Amino acid sequence: MTTIRPIKTKKRSPVSQRANSIAPSGIRKFFDLLASMEGVISLGVGEPDYATPWRMREAAIYSLEQGRTMYTSNLGTPELRQELSRHLEHRYGLKYDPATELLITVGVSEALDLAMRATIDPGDQVIMPAPCYVAYPASVSLSAGEPIMIPTVEAANFEIDAADIEAAITPRTRAILSGYPANPTGAVMPREKLEAVAEVARKHDLLVMSDEIYARLVYGIEHTCFAALPGMQERTVLLGGFSKAYAMTGWRIGYAAGPKEIIAAMTKIHQYTIMCAPTMAQVAALEALRGGEESVLEMVADYNRRRKLIVKGLRDIGFSCFEPKGAFYAFPSVKVTGLTSNEFVEKVLLEEKVLILPGSLFGQQGEGFVRICYAYSLPHIEEALRRLASFVQRHHK
Ligand SMILES: Cc1ncc(COP(=O)(O)O)c(C=O)c1O
Repeated sequence: MTTIRPIKTKKRSPVSQRANSIAPSGIRKFFDLLASMEGVISLGVGEPDYATPWRMREAAIYSLEQGRTMYTSNLGTPELRQELSRHLEHRYGLKYDPATELLITVGVSEALDLAMRATIDPGDQVIMPAPCYVAYPASVSLSAGEPIMIPTVEAANFEIDAADIEAAITPRTRAILSGYPANPTGAVMPREKLEAVAEVARKHDLLVMSDEIYARLVYGIEHTCFAALPGMQERTVLLGGFSKAYAMTGWRIGYAAGPKEIIAAMTKIHQYTIMCAPTMAQVAALEALRGGEESVLEMVADYNRRRKLIVKGLRDIGFSCFEPKGAFYAFPSVKVTGLTSNEFVEKVLLEEKVLILPGSLFGQQGEGFVRICYAYSLPHIEEALRRLASFVQRHHK
C-alpha cells in the first residue's frame, strides 16, 4: 500500500506581517523587572501621582447611581462635545462643530490610531520629530504607512526644524505628526518655529496630526495650539485628552478635533471597533471641563516645583540637563558615565533601585539620554536624586 505524504509547505506565521512589523514597547521589560524587585523608587511611568480630583470621581459615581450605564452616541455624549467645543474656543479661539468636528475617544491613544487609519494609505510617509512618544511610529506602521523620523537635538532644545521637515518631504509624504509639549524630552515649540512648520505643511499640502495631550502642562511659556495657527485648522487633526492635566489616566478619555471629512472617517472606524468611550468616564470628563480648572492649576504649580528640583538636582550631580518647559519629564544626558542609556538604566535599577527609562526607547535619537518622570512627590524625587548621585560617583568615566 502506498502512503500519500503531504507536501511540505512553509508554515505560515499565525501573526500578520503588519503586527510582526512593529516591536513591542520596550517599556514593558523595565516594569517586569520592577515588579520582581523590592524597595524600588520608580520615576518611570509617565502619569500623575495624584488620584483624579474628587469632583470628577463623584460625578461618575453619581451617574452610576443613576443607572447611566448604557452606550452613548458613537461620537460621545452631546454635553461633553458641546463643553469641549466651548473649551477649545475659550482656550484657542477655535470653533469646532460638536455635531461633526469632534469625536470622543478612548484616550489620545485611540484618537492617534484612528487619525492614522483614517488618513494613511499603504506606503504613505508620515514625518515626525524624534525622539518621540513610542506609539507614534507604531501607529503609522500599523496603518501600513512609513514613519520618517527627523532627529531633534539638545543643542536646539529638541525643537523640530521646519527646514529639516521640508528636506525630508517626498512625493509619498502625507502628514506631519508632532507632539509638543513633548514626551520624552519635555520640549515646547515656540510659536514662531511652529509657524514655520505650518508654512511647510501649507506649501506641500500636508495633513498635520498634533498630539497636544500635555498642552496644559507648560511652565513659564505659552502653549501654541497647532490648529490655531493661520490656515491650519482645515488641515490639522488636534488630538487631546484628559489623562495628564486632570490626572485621569485610568478613565481612558481623549478626543480628536478636526475637519469633518476626517472626523467622519475616524468615526466609522471607531464605531466598528470601540462603539463609544466609556459612559461614566465621559461624565467625569465633562465635570473636568466644567469644574476642574482649579485642580489643574494646583497640579501644574506642583509639577513646576518638582521640575525645578529635578533639573537642579541632576545638574548638581553632573549631568547636562536641558530645561524642560512642558509635560513632566526631564531628559538628561548620561554620556558622562560612558554607559549607553540602556546600560545606565539597568545598572541604576540593579545597584540603586531607581527606575527610569532609557532615551533609546523613544528612537535611536534618544541614545545617550534617559527619561525621568517627575510627576512624583518631592521626597520621592529627593531620594531618587540621592541614589543617582551615589551611582554617578562610582561610575563617572
Ligand atoms: C505624548 C503622548 N500622547 C499620548 C499618550 C496616551 O494618552 P492617553 O492616556 O490619552 O491614551 C501619552 C501617554 O503617555 C503620551 O505621552
